[in-house]
Amino acid sequence: MKMRTASIHAHGFHDRELGVRMVPIYLTSIFEQPNPISGETKIIEGGRELKYAREEGPTTRYLEKTLAVLEGGEDALAFNSGMGAITSLLLTYLRSGMKVVVPMESYSGTIALLQQLSERINFRVVKVWPSTEKIVESIEEGADMAIVETMTNPTLRVIDVGEVARVSKERGTKLIVDNTLASPVIYTPLSDGALFAVESATKYIAGHNDAIGGFIAGSEHDLSAVWEWRKLTGTILQPTEAFLIQRGIKTLEIRFEAHSRNAQVVAEFLSEHPKVEEVFYPGLSRSPHRRVAEKLFKKKLYGGIVSFIVRGGEASARTVLKNLKLIIPSPSFGGPESLLTYPVISASKYIPKEERDRLGITEGLLRLSVGLEDVDDIIEDLDRALRAIA
Ligand SMILES: Cc1ncc(COP(=O)(O)O)c(C=O)c1O
Repeated sequence: MKMRTASIHAHGFHDRELGVRMVPIYLTSIFEQPNPISGETKIIEGGRELKYAREEGPTTRYLEKTLAVLEGGEDALAFNSGMGAITSLLLTYLRSGMKVVVPMESYSGTIALLQQLSERINFRVVKVWPSTEKIVESIEEGADMAIVETMTNPTLRVIDVGEVARVSKERGTKLIVDNTLASPVIYTPLSDGALFAVESATKYIAGHNDAIGGFIAGSEHDLSAVWEWRKLTGTILQPTEAFLIQRGIKTLEIRFEAHSRNAQVVAEFLSEHPKVEEVFYPGLSRSPHRRVAEKLFKKKLYGGIVSFIVRGGEASARTVLKNLKLIIPSPSFGGPESLLTYPVISASKYIPKEERDRLGITEGLLRLSVGLEDVDDIIEDLDRALRAIA
């Protein structure tokens, strides 16, 4: 099945008795035991027992089938948020004395979680410059685990995940790839040799700014240990959210293509704007990341996020945010509504200021999640807000 077909049909649900093909929302915390004496349980997809909804639930399990197919994994596990997925994965595999490599430009929740856990479990977090070269160098020096994002946020550096995976395999490093910004539409880290692909499903996967979720894809064997931790920590994705994400995912490819096309036009517009100092978008022909992006990403699509630095620093950034009429000033990304974020106070706030400055995450930086509105309307709104800068 091609991706577009799989995102619609791969869940495989079919209630032949009632003729229902849409996955229902099974709102139940309990499951009946057919034989209460032996403790026998009903078994669902992938041999999972249905006992209690903190462990397993049918609506979530059908979504996981779709997610596994899209990411090219043997299996997938869905969680109540992207952070729930990352937390459960880290708790499964982290041990005292380990070395964990993480690029200094990573989702700040991931960095904060690693730092907090390292103080309790006593492992070492090695923050490296977010380039393929520096990540590979640190893994070659010996590392137990590396957590790398396909495309960094907010300055959109593209990491050659295939190269990182090759070295990780050689050195026995567990490689976790956060593929949230790329989505499986343009990249599947597992096919390049990553051990796990994780994503915040809140973004492009659900795609409608109305549900929070996350997932991990990988081999059945590796995920079975994570399943135990999901059960212990109670981080399973809830049925209503699973339903919303299953519904959203059906249009994933179509939406991602439209986000990317709009983003390309917006990035080119911003590149020419007199109030804009610098634009970050791997789809721009002069972007230093275009070559790796072309190598990694299918279909010559570069995603829906464009970041840019306005002339005049913080005051100008705040002026733009205050003068928007259509675009919503809000964190997150990947939904139909265009959103403008101020990274120094949101997604990047846990990155120390001196690191932020080196990375280009300055007081004048704004991150735009380009939505699915008509691109002319997005540009008109941006242009008016930018022209309000003194
Ligand atoms: C790259 C990345 N990974 C993980 C997360 C965490 O996901 P969630 O907000 O669904 O917990 C985010 C959230 O913004 C993110 O941008």
